[in-house]
Amino acid sequence: MPKEKPELSDAMRAKISKKTPVKNPIIGTKFTIAVSSAKGGVGKSTFATNLALALKKLGCKVGLLDADIYGPSVPKMLGINEKPKSDGQKLEPVVKYDIQCMSIGFLTDQQTPMIWRGPMVTSAIKTFTQKVKWKDLDFIIVDMPPGTGDAQLTFSQEIKMDGAIIVSTPQEVALLDVIRGIKMFDKLGVKILGLVDNMSFFIGDDGKKYRIFGEGGVKRTAEKFKKEFLGEIPLNPEVGKLGDEGKPIVESNSDHVISKIYLNFANKIKLTYL
Ligand SMILES: Nc1ncnc2c1ncn2[C@@H]1O[C@H](COP(=O)(O)OP(=O)(O)OP(=O)(O)O)[C@@H](O)[C@H]1O
Ligand SMILES: [Mg+2]
Repeated sequence: MPKEKPELSDAMRAKISKKTPVKNPIIGTKFTIAVSSAKGGVGKSTFATNLALALKKLGCKVGLLDADIYGPSVPKMLGINEKPKSDGQKLEPVVKYDIQCMSIGFLTDQQTPMIWRGPMVTSAIKTFTQKVKWKDLDFIIVDMPPGTGDAQLTFSQEIKMDGAIIVSTPQEVALLDVIRGIKMFDKLGVKILGLVDNMSFFIGDDGKKYRIFGEGGVKRTAEKFKKEFLGEIPLNPEVGKLGDEGKPIVESNSDHVISKIYLNFANKIKLTYL
């Protein structure tokens, strides 16, 4: 268990306490669920995409909102090359695998780095939540950028968020960030549905489990902060490869042992809300 050092910065704390929350639901959906992590590269986008597909397989109507305006992943992970249509007022989500999707990556050249200032982040997120014609959805899954910054604040303070899932890898350094994420959502009054331990272990050719990044840290952190531990997802090269090819594992092989883990998470969420 890492030392419990991380605290929110003074600037972040000031921003949180300054605003009176007026929370608008995203029109066209019943429930909005964020997939978050304070640390980058732990598998949020992979989780968000497969979770959305798993909910769809369970019969839910699902949207996937890529809120990572700095490094959008949804276009690549779902193999989407088309641009959303606009009527001059509102954008139509792009539909892939029966999921309604929106990403800044549909609107910009993905190889160009995007430099966003705080108010621009807020405005992009407002566009995605208020100016997209999401239609008859049970859930919107929001793939958050890493960190505890303006995107998280805008969602938590201005948009009705029904829950957040925090994804982490088991390294000590990632766990410190998990604690920061827990504190942020608690402070902002967003219900944390639970913590997921991603890339927990690797099964070698010898059939043995190798816990490359350490063991049990995410679970211990969940227990310490009285949050639910949702479970482990192994590190499996298929997951990465299929994500890169634009047909995530849940879509291309729903019988795979890892797809079943995502379906299990999805079932939990479905039962919680519907
Ligand atoms: N369970 C897994 N097994 C193998 N590879 C995985 C797994 N989960 C994620 N990956 C891979 O790890 C890399 C990072 O994943 P991903 O892009 O989903 O992380 P992220 O947290 O969204 O990153 P960022 O903070 O940059 O948005 C990707 O190459 C992805 O394919
Ligand atoms: Mg991502």
